Amino acid sequence: MDADELIAEARAALDAAHAPYSEYRVGAALLTAEGAVYTGCNIENANYSNSLHAEEVALGSAVSDGHREFEAIAVTSAARDGVTPCGMCRQTLSEFCDGEFDVHCDTEDGVRTYTLGTLLPDTISADNLDANTESSQ
Ligand code: THU
Ligand code: ZN
Repeated sequence: MDADELIAEARAALDAAHAPYSEYRVGAALLTAEGAVYTGCNIENANYSNSLHAEEVALGSAVSDGHREFEAIAVTSAARDGVTPCGMCRQTLSEFCDGEFDVHCDTEDGVRTYTLGTLLPDTISADNLDANTESSQ
């Protein structure tokens, strides 16, 4: 599946967004290593602070279905303004995705692709925790 096809899946996921407070609808489509696609949309809450982001919903759905390896994610907003995953979502993705993981973002002028390593360099991972455990033994 190429970037344009994954973006199309993300756009289709926008329809289910629940964003009555920001009125900013986001859709995401996550491609697994096996070639399956899991989509998500943002789901806001009246308390404003604990809204679910589209990327989190897509990843949560895939992981709860047993997937652990991923190739790419596509993200779009209704505005097609090139929105990228927020800092929290970048970190959430990094739990399962390495620096080569592709992040396709939807703009009015086409798809803009980043790697997760570009968007979130040198972040904390399980490796840090392992090293910490070793150094304290
Ligand atoms: N949003 C996402 O769904 N993903 C992101 O990574 C950026 C922000 C949503 C959260 C909120 O419902 C709306 O966009 C405005 O921030
Ligand atoms: Zn986010």
